[in-house]
Amino acid sequence: MIILICLFIICLFVIILLFALPTFSPIPYFPTQKKDLALIIKALKLQNNQVIYDLGAGDGLVIFEAAKFAKRKKLNTQFIAVEINPILVLILNLKKLFNPNNKNIKIVWGDLFKMNFHKLLYGQNSILSLHPTFYLYVSPWFLDKILSRLQSQFKNFSIVSYMYPIKRLKKKEKIIHGKNSIHSYVNLRG
Ligand SMILES: C[S@@+](CC[C@H](N)C(=O)[O-])C[C@H]1O[C@@H](n2cnc3c(N)ncnc32)[C@H](O)[C@@H]1O
Repeated sequence: MIILICLFIICLFVIILLFALPTFSPIPYFPTQKKDLALIIKALKLQNNQVIYDLGAGDGLVIFEAAKFAKRKKLNTQFIAVEINPILVLILNLKKLFNPNNKNIKIVWGDLFKMNFHKLLYGQNSILSLHPTFYLYVSPWFLDKILSRLQSQFKNFSIVSYMYPIKRLKKKEKIIHGKNSIHSYVNLRG
């Protein structure tokens, strides 16, 4: 019994560390507001032969709901959830099992600041990498750095940023007002 209690305390401690340490959680985990999901899915403008990345996907609230929507609309949209926190990656993989569109969802455990997003695509599909859309709900001071990474990797892409505007893209901005603001930027050039 004592061993079990000790194991439980150790697990709890590890989980708290994973969420608190900047190495695993440089951007803290806060899920998107459920009330804004419909507006976000509209802003993502889902279509065939398109790929949606959620950079810092958390528990996958947005990506899984968007994937369900795509399935209902019979779209072949691909979804890629990138997450650094191993506990959330485990949750993402479990939730993926129960999503009706799971064949079009990929979960990637990694650091969004270090990856080549093209390489995450299934079979390096060139059509999909033509115009990807990125969903971002990250701390505002990281937005510029992420934008630069995307510009260096893609010729043409779109961004939907939850809550926080990307100041450098003010001229291209379209704001949707939900419970929180949704900032959308389409046809950005790399
Ligand atoms: C504000 S939450 C957003 C969660 C989800 N996108 C949503 O809207 O519900 C930010 C997420 O980014 C993840 N994250 C932070 N730094 C990251 C990094 N360098 N690479 C990948 N994911 C990261 C965190 O673990 C957290 O789950």
